[in-house]
Amino acid sequence: MSAAFPALVAENTPAGYRAGFRQLRDLDLPPFPVLVQIEYSSLNYKDGLAVTGRGKIIRRSPMVLGIDLAGRVESSSDPRFQPGDAVVVTGQGLSETDWGGYSRRQRLRPELLTPLPAGFSTRQAMAIGTAGLTAMLALMALEDAGVRPGEREIAVTGAAGGVGSVAVALLAARGYAVAAITGRPQLEPYLRRLGARRIVPRAELEGTPPGLDSERWAGAVDNAGGKMLANLLAATAADGAIAACGLAGGAELAGTVYPLLLRGVRLQGISSSGCRPERRKRVWERLERELPAATLDAISRVEPLSRVVALSQAILEGKIQGRIVLDVNA
Ligand SMILES: NC(=O)c1ccc[n+]([C@@H]2O[C@H](COP(=O)([O-])OP(=O)(O)OC[C@H]3O[C@@H](n4cnc5c(N)ncnc54)[C@H](OP(=O)(O)O)[C@@H]3O)[C@@H](O)[C@H]2O)c1
Repeated sequence: MSAAFPALVAENTPAGYRAGFRQLRDLDLPPFPVLVQIEYSSLNYKDGLAVTGRGKIIRRSPMVLGIDLAGRVESSSDPRFQPGDAVVVTGQGLSETDWGGYSRRQRLRPELLTPLPAGFSTRQAMAIGTAGLTAMLALMALEDAGVRPGEREIAVTGAAGGVGSVAVALLAARGYAVAAITGRPQLEPYLRRLGARRIVPRAELEGTPPGLDSERWAGAVDNAGGKMLANLLAATAADGAIAACGLAGGAELAGTVYPLLLRGVRLQGISSSGCRPERRKRVWERLERELPAATLDAISRVEPLSRVVALSQAILEGKIQGRIVLDVNA
């Protein structure tokens, strides 16, 4: 019998929702063709919701949590994968319908696996994770909308968080003038190192949104939602675009349609989990070209998986800087 290993398992029980570490063996894993030895996972806002039970994330019980994983194939009955292949999964139903990455081992459907891009280690792939994919999808959405680098700024809300940090770095590297909107002005040196041209206190965008404001932004990557998204919309210049990624500040869609009707502003939703394989491949290719190792080191730190409960609390309180990579074997 294979050795037991720890995994973070969530369950809906008669007494309510519970998430905690449990010892699993290979025979407990789902009957999918590819057995992966996981090296690293990561912490995303959605993981925070699942670990603490503050959001309804799991759609089957019991569920191994962790929406991302990177590791090596140990065995595979699918011809597309061989033992030793390095692979990565971000989102795609992990921790919702399929068992996820907060475990040392997992059996997975081959269609979920992306070969690890040659330029990245498994740790670097998890420094990117779902948050990094989302940031690149947001940049691509702005490009698709015709928003080009120029004098007018691109606003990034939740700038010091995971999606925000990668977005600031990617946009700045492409030559956009980035205004980092943050509730943590003390992180100005960090945000400037990533390439932010200006730091804007979050409070400036938290007031009651007007129907239309003076044209301030060429576009935005929004991780906040709610009033902040409405304020961004009202102040986006003609033909600008907003990539709506998150809801750290609220799930409601506030504001008016004036910016859309009078300025042709485009509001583009981003869904990294549902990103199709062809686009996912392009996203990883661009991340490989546009995210240098030094940037990944600057935005991420490694923590043992055993700390994930405390870290989950912290991410929901907006206290995490950049990205947390989780070492599942520590
Ligand atoms: N659409 C998708 O596919 C997708 C994928 C990944 C994540 N998301 C969403 O994107 C958001 C960011 O995810 P993440 O993993 O980057 O989380 P994160 O690391 O916690 O980043 C969120 C950031 O938002 C800011 N923030 C916190 N509370 C806020 C509030 N009340 N109002 C406004 N801003 C607040 C904080 O940055 P500052 O301190 O700098 O203000 C915080 O660091 C989450 O809502 C997540 O659910 C969506």
